[in-house]
Amino acid sequence: MLYYQDMLKKFLHKFRFFLVGNLREEKLSRFFSELIIDFRPGEHVSILDYGSGFHPNVIVYTSEILNDNQIKAEINCTDFYSPEDLIKLNNLYENINFYHLDNFEDKEFDFVIISDVLHHIGIEKINEIKNLLIKLSQLSNFILIKDHFEYGPFSRAILRFMDFIGNYKDDVSIPRVYFNEAELNLLMDEIKLTTVKELTNISLYRKIFFPFNLKKLHFIHLYKKH
Ligand SMILES: C[S@@+](CC[C@H](N)C(=O)[O-])C[C@H]1O[C@@H](n2cnc3c(N)ncnc32)[C@H](O)[C@@H]1O
Repeated sequence: MLYYQDMLKKFLHKFRFFLVGNLREEKLSRFFSELIIDFRPGEHVSILDYGSGFHPNVIVYTSEILNDNQIKAEINCTDFYSPEDLIKLNNLYENINFYHLDNFEDKEFDFVIISDVLHHIGIEKINEIKNLLIKLSQLSNFILIKDHFEYGPFSRAILRFMDFIGNYKDDVSIPRVYFNEAELNLLMDEIKLTTVKELTNISLYRKIFFPFNLKKLHFIHLYKKH
């Protein structure tokens, strides 16, 4: 059984790369670094990437773009990393430190990035999400959230399919539902986070494989405390 699961994971890893390559990571890092450049407090920025992932290309590319723009970024990443992952990742990048979520020390940051993490926690666990966002907003001036909107069964099915392809191999739980715009706005009002910038109509995948318009399914919002 384990053998077949491993085979499926390897196949999905290759299939995802064939389908989207690193396009998602490259595009997201451009969006994130533009926002950080526009709203940075100075030439030095500190960033927490919460749920940075087991292939943390988005934050690595973001860091490279910031560096190319003469911005010195001190970056902390946290996720469910194993001790082996931590040794490997912490030896790879000079200005990026990786921690396990349980050992993560509360510090202060200019930006917290939460990229495609909230729907994996589970939108239905709204109190857990609320408490996490309250905690993270106490650590940082800005909260940058990339996540998904669903509009009905079809968009939900596409998002679940993409999440399965992208995350099953890393044992990340596959969401059942996604945010809708009204729900998200209500939550942010409740926890007193104000939108300072909204990016919508985001295209992350190759049109040849996804001829229908998927742009409405992604959002990137930058929030600040009221
Ligand atoms: C889709 S990946 C996103 C990785 C990266 N941020 C990116 O955008 O490429 C979601 C990550 O959220 C992490 N995560 C953090 N807290 C989680 C939770 N409570 N439940 C599920 N996943 C969680 C997972 O381990 C996973 O690496």
